[in-house]
Amino acid sequence: MGRYVVGRMSDLPPGSRRLIQVGRFEVGVFNVNGKYYALNNRCPHAGGPLCLGEVTGTTEDAGAYRVVWVRQGEIVSCPWHAWEFDIASGRTITEPTKTVRTYPVSVEDGQVVLETDTPPRAGDRSEQSRGA
Ligand code: FES
Repeated sequence: MGRYVVGRMSDLPPGSRRLIQVGRFEVGVFNVNGKYYALNNRCPHAGGPLCLGEVTGTTEDAGAYRVVWVRQGEIVSCPWHAWEFDIASGRTITEPTKTVRTYPVSVEDGQVVLETDTPPRAGDRSEQSRGA
């Protein structure tokens, strides 16, 4: 299993992110409300640098032709075509059948550590379709 030190916890406060190199690829590590998540920095739509997008929220149907803003800070919006992804699960909100690969992240002695059995592959689309 590959282990990649992302940095100290103090380097990655809530609301921040950091890109790290995993083999030949980039992975974005996010701190969402004190929990760490990691996503492959390749959008399953058209390969955009997903993890460089705006960290935001999304809208939710509130009935009666109303929408409400929810989940601020839990969503990343791809900078190329604005597909929205749940940072925790990698699931796409815009197209629920698509996901981006996620990685476990842990904290060891104050350091944020990403773990992976296998680095992302070129054109990695193996985990995009999990069904709706
Ligand atoms: S490449 Fe990400 S939304 Fe199109």
